[in-house]
Amino acid sequence: MVKGEGENPFQRVSKTIRTSGYDSPEVPPDYDMAMELDPDWQRDIKDFVDFIPESVDIAGETKSLKDCTVLDVGVGTGAITAAIKDRVGRIIAIDKAKAMVDYAGKKFAADANVEVVRGDFTALPIEDGSVEMVVSAGTIFELPPDEEQEDKFLSELVRVLKPGGVVILNGVSNAEADCITRQFPQRRKENFEAAKHHKPATGRRNYVFLSSELAGKLEKLGYRCQVETSSKQENKPLCDVKITLLEKIKENEI
Ligand SMILES: C[S@@+](CC[C@H](N)C(=O)[O-])C[C@H]1O[C@@H](n2cnc3c(N)ncnc32)[C@H](O)[C@@H]1O
Repeated sequence: MVKGEGENPFQRVSKTIRTSGYDSPEVPPDYDMAMELDPDWQRDIKDFVDFIPESVDIAGETKSLKDCTVLDVGVGTGAITAAIKDRVGRIIAIDKAKAMVDYAGKKFAADANVEVVRGDFTALPIEDGSVEMVVSAGTIFELPPDEEQEDKFLSELVRVLKPGGVVILNGVSNAEADCITRQFPQRRKENFEAAKHHKPATGRRNYVFLSSELAGKLEKLGYRCQVETSSKQENKPLCDVKITLLEKIKENEI
C-alpha cells in the first residue's frame, strides 16, 4: 500500500505532525486541505477572527488596525493572516517550522504588508514594546509540558506589545465552562493540574492555562493586564481571550 493511501488529509497531517512535527514539506498543503474539509475548524477560525478588535487604545489614542503592526505568532499556513491582512497596516508572521515559513512566504508573496519570518515563540525576534497587536491561534497546544516554557510563551506575547496593545489567543481553558472538572467539582484544581501535565497520544495538550488565572500569571511575569473571554464560548471547554497590556511592572514591584 502506498504511504498515506486511504487516509483523509486530516488523518494524514495529524499522523505526520505526530511523528515528524510541522517541519516537513508535506505538512502545509495537507494542513490547508484538512482545514478546508472541517467545518468546525473553520468556525473556530471565524470566531477567532471575529474576536479581533478593529482598533486598539495606545497612549490614550484610538488606533485603527489599518495603522497597526500585528504579529501572527505560529502562523502555520496563514489562516489568520489571510483573514485579516486587508484590514491591518502590517503583519509580521512568525513560525518555527521552515516548511511553514516557506509555504506561508509563498502564499503571501504578493502582499506587501505581510512579512513571514522564522522564529520561536518562546524568544520572539521582535523588540520590546514595538507592536500594537499579537494574534496567536493553535499555539498553546504546541507547548511542551514545562512550566518555564509556558511562562516564556506568555511573557513573550506581551513583552512585544506597546502599553494598551492586545493579544488575541485561543485554546485557553475556560474557567466559566469548567468542563474538565465539571464532573468532579471537589477535585477541580487537581484535575486541571493533571490534564495540564498529561501528554496525550496526539502530542497535543489541550489544557494549559485557565482563563481565570491568566491575569495573575502575567502579573507574576511582570505585566499588569486585563483579560477578557469571548462571550461566544461561555459554555465551551476552550476559549479565545483578549489580553490588554495595561503596564509593565517595574522590577522592584514584582
Ligand atoms: C496548529 S498550528 C496553527 C497554525 C495557524 N496559527 C492556524 O491557526 O492555522 C501551530 C503552529 O505553531 C508552530 N509552532 C510550534 N512550536 C513553535 C514555536 N516554539 N515557535 C513558533 N512556532 C511554533 C508550528 O510550526 C505550527 O505552524
